Amino acid sequence: MATKVVIGAQWGDEGKGKIIDILAQQAEVVVRSQGGNNAGHTVEVKGEQYKLHLIPSGILNPGTLCIIGNGVVIDPGALLEELDMLTKRGISTDNLKIDARAHIIFPYHRELDRLSEAARGKEDIGTTGRGIGPAYMDKAERSGIRMCDLMNEEVFIEKVKRNVFIKNQIIEKVYGGSPLNADDIIKEYLEYAKHIKKYVCDTTILLYEAIKAGKNVLFEGAQGTLLDLDLGTYPYVTSSHPVSGGVCIGAGIGPTMIDECIGVVKAYLTRVGKGPFPTELFDEIGERIRRKGNEYGTTTGRPRRCGWFDAVIVKYAVRTSGLTSIVVNKMDTLGGLDKVKICVGYKKGDEIITEFPPSLEELALCEPVYEEMDGWEENIGHIRKYEDLPENARKYIERLEQLCGVKVSMIGVGPGRDQNIIRA
Ligand code: GDP
Ligand code: IMO
Ligand code: MG
Repeated sequence: MATKVVIGAQWGDEGKGKIIDILAQQAEVVVRSQGGNNAGHTVEVKGEQYKLHLIPSGILNPGTLCIIGNGVVIDPGALLEELDMLTKRGISTDNLKIDARAHIIFPYHRELDRLSEAARGKEDIGTTGRGIGPAYMDKAERSGIRMCDLMNEEVFIEKVKRNVFIKNQIIEKVYGGSPLNADDIIKEYLEYAKHIKKYVCDTTILLYEAIKAGKNVLFEGAQGTLLDLDLGTYPYVTSSHPVSGGVCIGAGIGPTMIDECIGVVKAYLTRVGKGPFPTELFDEIGERIRRKGNEYGTTTGRPRRCGWFDAVIVKYAVRTSGLTSIVVNKMDTLGGLDKVKICVGYKKGDEIITEFPPSLEELALCEPVYEEMDGWEENIGHIRKYEDLPENARKYIERLEQLCGVKVSMIGVGPGRDQNIIRA
């Protein structure tokens, strides 16, 4: 198996957590390298559902080393809540390691996330409100506070005082908000530090040694290609790099250490938060998909916007992440429809385009061009072999392969760990 990167090839929530949990059964190490607790990865094992935000989904496999890499932004309160949830449910977290370089989310990041969204009014991004953008802003501005700082009380106190002073100026003078108290934050975070200390180390060394020893390593992407800060539908994106390239920086490895890049997609498309979505459905079918697929955000509970599969987007993900194969989840959710549609290109005036445009203004002029196919049976959740899938479902998968220019290596027919079809 060696090293595999698993990323979202749409707008997030493609079922990455489930795929990581399945692949982790043969992996020795699972690594998160970007994002924070804006992510929500749902894993179902033997009818039990786990919702993970920060901790790699590999944690459900005893013995798997789970790493939160340097590129992740960590809200320590949220981390401890998740650790507590796992412990209470009998899952050991002894195998967790957190990189000392990872940046920390503070209450002023959450507050600035909220205030800047409110100030944007109708133009808001629809963030998860977890302080992700402001934490990455501090990192880029070189004023962020890292895990290694939290481990050094003196340094930590000084840095928090300095930051709170500046953030309070912005909170009060720019946004008219209420200032935060540095001493309260210091007290709260130093308490967290006592519980987190044992997990913190230089994970880049652990990872390098694991890869050098030929161990099976999985990189668990968060968010998805079109939420990438550089390659997504900017500014309606997150502040990290969910594409495969983000793994190198966020985990501290070189590109030559990656063997495979797997993209995860849904058989249709969803988006949570604002921003363009050419194939969005506002009708009965969109509602049916939302209901049947239980399309509500794992992190915020917001209803997800639903639409037809967009091959232009997935082709773009194949290109920008060098995907070697894709996993198509939720084929069961799409079952029971008479007809299904795939977006094969966009009509822009008299022109047909098949590459995802960089500009939102250009995207707004694009009308999806659909290809219609016959649907398949409602209940396919019990199927485990590709040849047992209804013929129309197989035709759909094979058409996706042609349009996206990539092999489909796995097909999801339900949320359970075993509800998958592996293709040779
Ligand atoms: P992630 O953020 O990419 O890990 O995805 P989420 O966990 O946010 O959302 C995916 C949802 O779909 C979760 O509730 C999964 O349990 C569920 N899921 C994953 N694969 C399948 C599938 O093949 N069929 C069905 N019905 N549900 C699935
Ligand atoms: P997983 O890992 C879907 C979206 C938010 C918003 C935008 C910016 O579960 O696939 P942020 O809080 O990151 O600044 O919000 O990104 N978003 C996600 N959408 N799945 C996610 O993660 C997401 N994480 C962030 O809804 O539109
Ligand atoms: Mg999710």
